[in-house]
Amino acid sequence: MSTIRQQLSTRHVLGIKDLTPEDIRLIFHTADEFKEVINRPIKKVPSLRDITIANLFFEDSTRTRVSFELAEKRLSADVVNFSASSSSVKKGETLLDTVNNILSMKVDMLVMRHPAPGAPHFLAQHIDANIVNAGDGTHEHPTQALLDAYSMQEQLGDLKGRRIAILGDILHSRVALSNIFCLTKLGAKVRVCGPPTLIPRHIAELGVEVSYDLRETLEWCEVANVLRIQLERQNIRYFPSLREYSRYFGLNKELLSGLDGPRIIMHPGPINRGVELTSDVADSEHSIILQQVENGVAIRMAVLYLLAVSRS
Ligand code: CP
Repeated sequence: MSTIRQQLSTRHVLGIKDLTPEDIRLIFHTADEFKEVINRPIKKVPSLRDITIANLFFEDSTRTRVSFELAEKRLSADVVNFSASSSSVKKGETLLDTVNNILSMKVDMLVMRHPAPGAPHFLAQHIDANIVNAGDGTHEHPTQALLDAYSMQEQLGDLKGRRIAILGDILHSRVALSNIFCLTKLGAKVRVCGPPTLIPRHIAELGVEVSYDLRETLEWCEVANVLRIQLERQNIRYFPSLREYSRYFGLNKELLSGLDGPRIIMHPGPINRGVELTSDVADSEHSIILQQVENGVAIRMAVLYLLAVSRS
């Protein structure tokens, strides 16, 4: 690797809130190099061959889990996977006991997804291993925001002054919060749009515009990052029905064809097809949803590599 030896300002990647704009740029620069690696016939480098990483998933995942595991294997790390549903957590073991037992087997780094906001931050106060937050409840999902911003930058160049809309269920979305932190740190103009019940009351204090008008927001933005309705986190009704949500806040081809709308459509997945966007939008030439997933591996390689560099 020809990456200049520079370091992140943090020992863990718990949230974008803790990263500096320079950290984000360093991750992007490192990801550029790893993207070149994973497009070679031999997609592997020896960078982490002395490092053991445990992937601790206390909540379901497809993309993040596979992406981290591929990133780790392409860096030649030793990898162990832990799933709460088939572990002794079910017998009443605490999070800290579970993690300390895993770490006693000489694990160096943890990637963790947990339903409780702040769970990785709590662990970081009690253990020595580096931690990457792979999503903590409704709080942050830093590597998703990094891969989202990296994918936008690939399409648009420097994000300073670019108009980015985040649409849908902002209230329950860790992707929304991490995207807001990341994009504002990079100088983008960010607007959130959705039903008033799904927009947190004080969100404008984070430096974003707020709109409840989907058509006007679509005409304003260059990128629409569409979020999933997180029904599993909603214990009351925030809108009358999915059909009504889709009618007033869903993206479909008919709506977009009548507008001077965004050039780029994104979604972190998993998609509720026909709810927040229809298949003819998800699969259109404007959609970069699969490029986001592809970039996730390079971004996670960069994050793990840079944390490992900080250990030596
Ligand atoms: N975007 C994302 O976090 O997807 P998964 O829940 O499948 O990991």
